[in-house]
Amino acid sequence: MCGIVGYVGRQDAAPILMEGLKRLEYRGYDSAGIALARSKKLKLFKAQGKVQALEAILPEQPKGQIGIAHTRWATHGEPSDVNAHPHPDGAERIAVVHNGIIENAPALKAELEASGVVFRSDTDTEVLAHLIAQSDAPNLADAVRSALRRIQGAYGVAVIAGDQPDQIIVARNGSPVIVGVGNREMFVASDAAALVRHTQQVVYLNDGEVATVTAEGFETSTLDAAPVHKTPVTAPVAQDDYDKGAHEHFMVKEIAEQPDAVERMLQGRLDLRFNSAHFGGLNLTPRELIDIERIKILGCGSAYISACNGAYVIEQLARIPASAEPASEFRYRNPVIEPGTLYIAVSQSGETLDTLMAVEEIKRKGGRVIGIINAVGSTIARACDGGLYLHAGPEISVVSTKTFTSTLVGFALLGLYFGRIRDLAPTAGEKLIKALQALPEQIRQILDDTAAIETAATFCAKARDMYFIGRGLGFPVAQEGALKLKEVSYIHAEAYPASELKHGPLALVTPETPVVAVLPDDALLDKNLSSIAEVHARKGPVIALTHPGVVCAAADHHVVVPKSVPELDPILLGVALQIMAYRCALILERDIDQPRNLAKSVTVE
Ligand code: F6R
Repeated sequence: MCGIVGYVGRQDAAPILMEGLKRLEYRGYDSAGIALARSKKLKLFKAQGKVQALEAILPEQPKGQIGIAHTRWATHGEPSDVNAHPHPDGAERIAVVHNGIIENAPALKAELEASGVVFRSDTDTEVLAHLIAQSDAPNLADAVRSALRRIQGAYGVAVIAGDQPDQIIVARNGSPVIVGVGNREMFVASDAAALVRHTQQVVYLNDGEVATVTAEGFETSTLDAAPVHKTPVTAPVAQDDYDKGAHEHFMVKEIAEQPDAVERMLQGRLDLRFNSAHFGGLNLTPRELIDIERIKILGCGSAYISACNGAYVIEQLARIPASAEPASEFRYRNPVIEPGTLYIAVSQSGETLDTLMAVEEIKRKGGRVIGIINAVGSTIARACDGGLYLHAGPEISVVSTKTFTSTLVGFALLGLYFGRIRDLAPTAGEKLIKALQALPEQIRQILDDTAAIETAATFCAKARDMYFIGRGLGFPVAQEGALKLKEVSYIHAEAYPASELKHGPLALVTPETPVVAVLPDDALLDKNLSSIAEVHARKGPVIALTHPGVVCAAADHHVVVPKSVPELDPILLGVALQIMAYRCALILERDIDQPRNLAKSVTVE
């Protein structure tokens, strides 16, 4: 979603800001803008559409050694030039870029209008620009502070003033802001992606903190101007993480990174002595774990689907009743928080608002919640009582692939650990560990021979509607396969438990609706074969996603992946469906890394 970049230093700011905006494109946006300060004046350029549209309206060599820039994903007001950020005050003395939502914007706007302020945009952010301009505080930082004290809601903001062209004021409340430290130049951004080309020395602002950033350094303080001492840390990312390298798209690069991601996920977490797992930051003692009566897992989108898989795996391995629920539903139903329940929040970005709100609801009611998170130091990671990081590296493609896989590995590790504290036999633990260790090589095998997947994709790319069916642990595989396909190829795809097919969806199965059947070689194989026969009898083309040795005469296409143990089979089956979705999107020439209407981190309701 929205992205912020800022620069102050000795170089012209515009090229640095534009490059930063391009690095943030992956987050999804619908307009972009830039404000530069020069000779005590602000210059603003804003354009609906892609960063290229903004580039087209910039003068050839825009001057100014300080500036802020933004990519906007519309919430208040349609995507348009005028609603794009930065937003100035009436006199164009100050400019503001803002991520988040100002909840009391209507009331503040009415008050400002009553005092004679004329609004140009439909955005909530413009309120902030006018409030700052109206402040009689002696300096920009104090003016920003006094305005922010009147704001309710979430924000990450950056502000510059034409008459104080040596500083950027940034502040955070619920939406990330990072300060990048250079050599007599400083950067600000909402995402490390926009900084890593220039510096890896960063300072993460906490909620309620404000920073005055100049070319020479930064000063941090609270909203009440109490000084806060902060030391730069090295951002755990490298420039390579944000480049496609030899790959055509980030999606396929991130699919290819999965063997390494799984290896990193396992690193240091396998306990070969006790055939168990260990974790650095769960913050749960075995004594506390033994008292857990129930596990509830929350997330959105693919994170929710991974939670469905996790609930199944943990319940099987640890015999603790476990269930999953979309975080967005959970937070609004006044949930009962039970003392014996352990809550697990899953999020790649660590910024998804619905998941964050669910975590806060649990904590407000005294519950205990751990996180499975990719983005280190993200808001959800910090809100949780403990948890594990995926260490999958930044995921740039809007659709999740490697983080989904790593999350499934995370659940297997938790299941192993919880299981070994309870009733899981050492031999069963040893078998699972061996299977975990074999995963990276098995994923490599799938990546090395994609011929059958490509043939199936060529067939499916012609379809308008598709079904994905599976049972037990195969059902989340079907769900994720359908989600991935619809996101990147725009082919309509629905997932059903195979057992539910005859209770309704079978009515829509025709020779034009291919059905992907998740068909692992497990205890439910015969049941799955019966469901496939029902599809075949209605002349529905079947793509069987299966294991070596399985014979499915009714299938039109076979995609065969290496066999693991049942708890880990979904990981390998899932990789094949990621590749299939990617290939379909490639054939259909879709905007693979930035599918229409989607954003990488969903920080609004
Ligand atoms: C699907 C996808 C989304 C995210 C969802 C949650 O490919 O990427 O469904 O999984 O928006 O995002 P995080 O994991 O950042 O909380």
